[in-house]
Amino acid sequence: MFYHILLLGFLTQTSIQTIHYDYVIIGGGTCGLTVANRLSSHPDTTVAVIEPGKDEHDNPNVTSILGLGLAFNTSVDWQYMSTNQIYAANQQVEYHSGKAWGGSSAINGLTYIRAQNAHIDAWETLGNEGWNWSTLFPYYRKSEAFQIPTPAQTDAGASYIPDYHGYTGPVNVGYPLEMPNGSLASLVNITWRNLGYEFNPDPNGGYVDGFSVWPMTVDRDKDVRADAARAYYYPVRERTNLVMIQGLVNRIIWKEDTMEDALAEGVEFTAPDGTVQRLYANKEVILSAGAIRSPAILELSGVGNPDILTQNNIPIRIPLPAVGENAQDQPNNVILYAPRTPNLTDGILPYATFITASDLFGPNLSTIANTTLAAIPEWATTLSLASNSTVSIPSLTTQLLLQHSLIFTDQVPCAEIFTTRIESSLASSVWPLMPFSRGSVHITSSNPEEYPALDPRFFIIDWDVTFALKVAELAGLFWATEPARWMVGERVFPSAGVELDAEWVRGSFYANHHLVGTAIMLPRELGGVVGTNLRVYGTRNVRVIDASVLPMHLSGHLTSTLYAVAERAADLIMDDW
Ligand SMILES: Cc1cc2nc3c(=O)[nH]c(=O)nc-3n(C[C@H](O)[C@H](O)[C@H](O)COP(=O)(O)OP(=O)(O)OC[C@H]3O[C@@H](n4cnc5c(N)ncnc54)[C@H](O)[C@@H]3O)c2cc1C
Ligand SMILES: *[C@@H]1O[C@H](CO)[C@@H](O)[C@H](O)[C@H]1NC(C)=O
Ligand SMILES: *[C@@H]1O[C@H](CO)[C@@H](O)[C@H](O)[C@H]1NC(C)=O
Ligand SMILES: *[C@@H]1O[C@H](CO)[C@@H](O)[C@H](O)[C@H]1NC(C)=O
Ligand SMILES: *[C@@H]1O[C@H](CO)[C@@H](O)[C@H](O)[C@H]1NC(C)=O
Ligand SMILES: *[C@@H]1O[C@H](CO)[C@@H](O)[C@H](O)[C@H]1NC(C)=O
Ligand SMILES: *[C@@H]1O[C@H](CO)[C@@H](O)[C@H](O)[C@H]1NC(C)=O
Ligand SMILES: *[C@@H]1O[C@H](CO)[C@@H](O)[C@H](O)[C@H]1NC(C)=O
Ligand SMILES: *[C@@H]1O[C@H](CO)[C@@H](O)[C@H](O)[C@H]1NC(C)=O
Ligand SMILES: *[C@@H]1O[C@H](CO)[C@@H](O)[C@H](O)[C@H]1NC(C)=O
Repeated sequence: MFYHILLLGFLTQTSIQTIHYDYVIIGGGTCGLTVANRLSSHPDTTVAVIEPGKDEHDNPNVTSILGLGLAFNTSVDWQYMSTNQIYAANQQVEYHSGKAWGGSSAINGLTYIRAQNAHIDAWETLGNEGWNWSTLFPYYRKSEAFQIPTPAQTDAGASYIPDYHGYTGPVNVGYPLEMPNGSLASLVNITWRNLGYEFNPDPNGGYVDGFSVWPMTVDRDKDVRADAARAYYYPVRERTNLVMIQGLVNRIIWKEDTMEDALAEGVEFTAPDGTVQRLYANKEVILSAGAIRSPAILELSGVGNPDILTQNNIPIRIPLPAVGENAQDQPNNVILYAPRTPNLTDGILPYATFITASDLFGPNLSTIANTTLAAIPEWATTLSLASNSTVSIPSLTTQLLLQHSLIFTDQVPCAEIFTTRIESSLASSVWPLMPFSRGSVHITSSNPEEYPALDPRFFIIDWDVTFALKVAELAGLFWATEPARWMVGERVFPSAGVELDAEWVRGSFYANHHLVGTAIMLPRELGGVVGTNLRVYGTRNVRVIDASVLPMHLSGHLTSTLYAVAERAADLIMDDW
C-alpha cells in the first residue's frame, strides 16, 4: 500500500521524489528492459528503470523495419565517436548507440542470428561455470515469439527448423514482408554453393556455418521493428510495481560501512530538468547502460583502475583494474557493385554466409595456424602493454589461446559475409568475427555527462588486417563466380581499379557496433569484473547485465544472445530469493 501511494505520485508525474525500490536498473535498453520485465512479474517486487531516452513507439526512424541507418545522428542516437584509431589510419570511427526505450535494439540492423554453440561453451572454458550453450539455449527460446514464414516468404528463401525456436516469448522474430521475390535468394545460394558453402536452413540452433537467409527482430504482421520496449516493456507497462524514470545516472551511491565488500544504497541521477536526485535500492542496483556506458558508470562510482580514478579525482571504492578493458569489436569493410538491372536490389536482402578458417586458408591452414599460435605471446604482450598492464599477460594469453583453438582447431566460423544491398548497389559486408585486437573505454573526467574515451584499438594486432583482407578477397571471388557474376557490372567501391590491400582495410572500415568485454565476466584472478552471477567483484549487490559482460566475440549477432543472457540473469537473481 505504501508503495502504491508513492508510485501514484510518480505515475501522475507530479514530482520525482526520493524513493526506495527493490531493484534499480540503470538503462532501459536491450538487456535492462528484459530484466525489468522478469523481476517485476512478481507483484511484490518493485523495480525502477532509469533511462535518458524516451518512448519512441511512434518514431518512424525506430519502428520502420527498413532499419539500419534511419535513426543515425538523430536524437535517439548517442552519436559516439571513437578516439583516433592509431592502427587504422588514425581515423575516428562513428559509434551509433540507441538512446531510447529499448536502447540499441531500437536502432540496430534487426538481424536475429544466435551464436555458434562453441562460442558460448568457450565462456565456460574461460572459467565461467554454468555459462554454456546447453544452459543458454532454453533462454534464447524463452525470449522468442517466432513468426512462421508465409508461403510467399518461403518461396523467397525463408526457412526454419521448428525445434530451434520459441513461440510464446516476448520478442517477435520473423521474416519481413519486403523480402525480394523472384530468383535473387536462389542465385546467391547457388553461387555460395559453387564456392563450397552449403545452405544452412536455420542458423539459430547453434550452428551458423554456411549460407542462410536469416530472420529479423520484426513483427511482420504489424510491419514494425520488435525492439526491447515493444517486446518487454509495453505489454507490462500497466504494472504498478514497475516504473520508468527519465534521467541520466551519474553514479552508484555506496553505504558507508566497514564491510569488506561494498553495498550499493542506490543511484544518483540527473533528471531532464537538471535536478540531481536519488533512488534507493532495497536489494540491488543493476547496470544495463551498455558496453560504452556501464564501465564509465562503474568508474564514476569509484570502481575501476585506481590510476584512472585518481586522474579523474574519483575516490577509490573498489580497485578493479579491468573495468573498461578487454573492449572487443569487429571491423566491417564493404565492397559495392553496380547491379545489372535495378530490380535486383528491391526489398530487404537477409543473406549471410559464415566461413571457417579452413574455408579461407585451405591447404595453408596448418602453416597459418602454427605461425599465429607462435605469435600469441607477442600479441598478449602488445595488448597488455597497450592496457598499461592492467590486463595481465597470463589473462590475455588464456583468452587468445582459446580464441586460436576455436578458430583453427574447432573450426568455428570466424568470418561472415553479408550479401546485401546498400542503397542502389549490391554489396558484400565483410566481417572478421573474432579479431585478436582489444581496446578500452574509460572516463576522461568526473562529469557523468561527458562521453567516455572509446578506443577499440582496431588492428593493433596486424593479423586482423591480413585476415580481413582474406575475407574481402572471398567476397570479391563471390561476385566473380556464376551465377552472381551476371548480376553485376563493375565494382564501384572501392572502384574497380583499386587494389584491395591492407591500406584499404585500415582506411575504410566501419565499426560493427558489436562492442563487448568492457565489464568482462571472468574469474577474478584472471582479471574479471563480474563473476558468473554477473555481480561486480567487491560488491554485495551490484550486477552488470548487458553486452559489457560478454568475455569474447561470437559468430552471429549480439541481440539474440543478449536477450538470452538477460533472461538467464533474471533467473539467477531470482534464484537468490
Ligand atoms: C547501429 C547498430 C546496429 C546493430 N545491428 C545489430 C543487428 O542487426 N543485430 C544484432 O543482433 N545486433 C546488432 N547490434 C548490436 C546490438 O543491438 C547491441 O549490442 C545491443 O542492443 C546492446 O544491448 P545492451 O543492453 O548492452 O545496451 P543498449 O541496448 O544500448 O542499452 C543501454 C541503455 O542504457 C542507456 N544509458 C546510457 N547511459 C546511461 C546512463 N548514464 N544512465 C542511464 N541509462 C543510460 C542508453 O540510453 C540505452 O537505452 C547493432 C548495434 C548498433 C548500435
Ligand atoms: C528521423 O530521421 C530524420 C533524418 O534521418 C530526421 O530528419 C527526423 O527528424 C527524424 N524523426 C524523428 C521523429 O526523430
Ligand atoms: C554523423 O555525424 C558525424 C559527426 O558529425 C559525421 O561524421 C557522420 O558522417 C554522420 N553520420 C551519418 C550516418 O550521418
Ligand atoms: C553446462 O552447465 C551446466 C550447469 O553448470 C552443467 O550441468 C552442464 O554439464 C554444462 N554442459 C556442458 C555441455 O558443459
Ligand atoms: C539453397 O539450395 C539448397 C540446395 O542445395 C536448397 O535446399 C535450398 O532450399 C536453397 N535455398 C534457397 C534460399 O534458395
Ligand atoms: C513479394 O511478394 C509479396 C507477396 O506478394 C509482397 O507483399 C512483397 O511486397 C513482395 N516483395 C517485393 C520486394 O516486391
Ligand atoms: C527482374 O525483372 C526481370 C524482368 O521482369 C525478371 O525476369 C527477374 O526475375 C527479376 N529479378 C529478380 C531478382 O526479381
Ligand atoms: C597458400 O599460400 C600460397 C603461397 O603463399 C598462396 O599462393 C595461395 O594463394 C594460398 N592459398 C590459400 C587458399 O590461401
Ligand atoms: C604445425 O604444427 C604441428 C604441431 O607442431 C605439426 O604437426 C605440423 O606439421 C605443423 N604444420 C606445418 C605446415 O608446419
Ligand atoms: C600506467 O601505470 C602506471 C603505474 O601504475 C601509472 O603510474 C600511470 O599513471 C598509468 N598511466 C595511465 C595512462 O593510466
